[in-house]
Amino acid sequence: MSRPTLSIPGDPPSDLWVGDLDLPLLTGLTQEHDRVAVLADQTVYQLHGALLGPLADSPTHQVPPGEECKDFKQLEAALNFCAASKLSRRSMLITLGGGATSDLGGLTAALFKRGLTVAHITTTLVGQVDAAIGGKTAIDMVTGKNLVGAFHMPRAVFADVRFLETLPDTELRAGLGEVVKCALLQGEQALQQLEQDAAALIEGDRDALERAVRMGAGLKVEVVTEDPRENGRRKLLNLGHTFAHAIETCTGHGTVPHGIAVAVGLKMALDASQSQGILTDQTLPLRLEQLLLALGLPASVAALDLDPCPSASDLWQAMAHDKKGAVGRPEFVLLAGPGAGQWDIAIEESVVNELWNL
Ligand SMILES: NC(=O)c1ccc[n+]([C@@H]2O[C@H](COP(=O)([O-])OP(=O)(O)OC[C@H]3O[C@@H](n4cnc5c(N)ncnc54)[C@H](O)[C@@H]3O)[C@@H](O)[C@H]2O)c1
Ligand SMILES: [Zn+2]
Repeated sequence: MSRPTLSIPGDPPSDLWVGDLDLPLLTGLTQEHDRVAVLADQTVYQLHGALLGPLADSPTHQVPPGEECKDFKQLEAALNFCAASKLSRRSMLITLGGGATSDLGGLTAALFKRGLTVAHITTTLVGQVDAAIGGKTAIDMVTGKNLVGAFHMPRAVFADVRFLETLPDTELRAGLGEVVKCALLQGEQALQQLEQDAAALIEGDRDALERAVRMGAGLKVEVVTEDPRENGRRKLLNLGHTFAHAIETCTGHGTVPHGIAVAVGLKMALDASQSQGILTDQTLPLRLEQLLLALGLPASVAALDLDPCPSASDLWQAMAHDKKGAVGRPEFVLLAGPGAGQWDIAIEESVVNELWNL
């Protein structure tokens, strides 16, 4: 078996392969299991199902595209499919799709017979740098996103950037928002590389995409290895997300795509870092703005062109209902410079007020 590109230690480890989907390798992994079944996003299955080769003969369950699959009804249908396919705890469930599919498939695998092996063939940029890696799984409730879930580490993740060729432009750009987050957290070298690759990335250049996936996935693997249950350093991955979640909540989920809200959230997080005196690299806000623009991403609230635009107090209320810290106020990840993040930082409502009206 070829060596994985990255690995989260464990017994067995959670291995990640970045590059062309290696079917013999995947088939080899399935042979360690008594049965195999596939859970696929129906849009992706129509576009790419043939790439599964001999695995296409396995029992297959297609789920509605994207977020639509993350509810109790779809979870029940997926569990029924596992039962009908006679899966056991020694079986393997393979998901094909983006983060929504790996979230549903991962949770299904965590729950069915108290846990069977899952592998993700991840077909979005968000999936490849983030969602499919690290074992967090979830579905949504009417009262909020990702409220029901479990930690269930995938045995294997396959990130083949050729899948991204059919990804709608907005989805690619949303993924690039997360890639920028990863570069800011990774450090100066990653940030410089991303700045150099910006034009190639929006053209869908494979080499540039693969570099971005290796960088983003590398960060996620490193952080999850150190802090699998998000008690500390894993919180860094929420950079820009307290702002982004609040923007999504205030505008109604789905109005501003998550990764696009993250782009604005990153700029707000840097502005907050500056106003709180944490930022030591004063060139960073302008660099970030230029990078976001080069990637076709908004660098300010105004660029989102929201109508109606939520007020700063709506935003604060949404944050207060999101993840509150020990002090009962929303907490933020702020940056001193590239690769120098700090988590669990509380900031005052007045600061959020100023940032929102910048
Ligand atoms: N578990 C985690 O750690 C984690 C991390 C980040 C995000 N997430 C979750 O991931 C979800 C978002 O996932 P996503 O951004 O990967 O998108 P997605 O899975 O929601 O898919 C978005 C759209 O792209 C389509 N699509 C997927 N791959 C395609 C391809 N190759 N070609 C054409 N169309 C394709 C889908 O059918 C869908 O319409 C959210 O539910 C979020 O909560 C989870
Ligand atoms: Zn995100």
